[in-house]
Amino acid sequence: MRIFASKERRILSVGQIAPLFPNSKLIRMTLPSLIRILRDAVPALVAVFLISGCVNPIDPLGPIGKGPEPRPPLVAPQLGEKFAWGFSSSSYQYEDPAVKPGDPDYFQTDWDIFVDQDKAPPKGNALYSWTHFDKDLEALKKSGVTHYRFSIEWARVEPRPGVYNEVAIRRYADMARQLKEAGIEPIVCLWHFTFPSWLYDKKKPGQSNWLHPLARERWNAYVERMVRATAPYTKYYAPQNEPNGQITTAYIVGQWPPGMDLAFGHYWKAIDASTGMFRDAASRIKAIKPSAMVVSVEALPWWERAPLDPGGLIYNTMIHGNVDHLDRIYDVCDILGINYYYSQAPGPISLLAEPYRRGHNFTMMGWRINPEGLYKEIQRVAKRYGKPMMITENGIATTDDAKRIEYMQNHLAAIGRAIRDGYDVRGYLSWSLADNYEWHYGYKAFFGLSHMNPETYDREPKPSMAWYKKIIKDHPRVNSVRSILPTKKSD
Ligand code: BGC
Repeated sequence: MRIFASKERRILSVGQIAPLFPNSKLIRMTLPSLIRILRDAVPALVAVFLISGCVNPIDPLGPIGKGPEPRPPLVAPQLGEKFAWGFSSSSYQYEDPAVKPGDPDYFQTDWDIFVDQDKAPPKGNALYSWTHFDKDLEALKKSGVTHYRFSIEWARVEPRPGVYNEVAIRRYADMARQLKEAGIEPIVCLWHFTFPSWLYDKKKPGQSNWLHPLARERWNAYVERMVRATAPYTKYYAPQNEPNGQITTAYIVGQWPPGMDLAFGHYWKAIDASTGMFRDAASRIKAIKPSAMVVSVEALPWWERAPLDPGGLIYNTMIHGNVDHLDRIYDVCDILGINYYYSQAPGPISLLAEPYRRGHNFTMMGWRINPEGLYKEIQRVAKRYGKPMMITENGIATTDDAKRIEYMQNHLAAIGRAIRDGYDVRGYLSWSLADNYEWHYGYKAFFGLSHMNPETYDREPKPSMAWYKKIIKDHPRVNSVRSILPTKKSD
């Protein structure tokens, strides 16, 4: 019996494998049938791979909903309006914990559990943005931005279920107030990847975070408190950051908490739970502050067909990853946020090769640079959902700041072209203000337009900061963004 065989050569046989498990009767008994099943399944699996794209196709440029018409109306850009220029950041990637174990305010996130289990690099104090938010504020004021997206650490606010840290709640509200008073519109994000550790079930990972029995009830109470506290100073709320990306990485790729591989059932349950929680948050926000704007923030890379994915199985899976979450919440949003970094032709080889790709057209994480992908993504979101958009994250991990400027300019030019072509893009938030903790890359990916001086905690600007400041100054309105042109074409 062969597992992998060619006409000439037998590669592996039961006879070769069974002696590896001399004491296991069970394995000796079941191995032959297992191998038979695998062998018989190979042609079927290959066939599914080749044709599956046709079985579950999706028209990403099509309008949302079952029937082809009517399409949602395209919203025309408000050319005279001020364009929102800003930065995005997140609590876990920027803040220091500032409390030690034993302190009543001590908290942990599910990501901290992952760090303790050596499944993620240590985070330490990041940019000290909890104890030194003044340093962020100072850098933001100097940069000339009009908007700043920061997130709230749920675990810090609610270190144990139903127990709140009132000082932390006031402090977050104060951040929004200070921004507002500095003429910078806060965009408050209520969840950016991390959950309180009490929503992590180590014994039953499948009942963690979105899927924990307490999640929805606790989320609603948390949202209520944070929105009430920040509402006097906040117009924009983003209930969740990239739930689509987090759910895929957590339940399919197994890289983020709770670390489950190819758990498609859980993937769908998490989509259900997170979209339900998003909708709950959106209605609470509107009830507390009817004039508030609800912003969705989704990871929206541009996918292309790859030659080694002839049936489009991987392509379609990726497109589903872009839209499955958004399809269920776009109707309760005022602005659709696009986080765009790269394009990819997702085939078996390119996906494996991604982290190792280097050169002018790739970032230091191996992501392919393609400003045209951003243009197409804007087009797709507009045609599918028909709502105003904002680029809520865009940036590049690099140590070469000239490359960062080129990247930003070319992506801004793509936005300018989209506006010229009639698409309603209202703002651009760069990722990010300063180099920070980049999840499973730790401190080895440099996305900042500044970096922290470890002695003074000052955010020291890179040349790209001065460049961005000038862009902001020269292009205050939607109208003027149309004139941003690309630099020389990337090779
Ligand atoms: C996330 C950020 C992350 C950035 C760069 C986005 O997916 O929202 O947390 O740092 O991409 O990878």
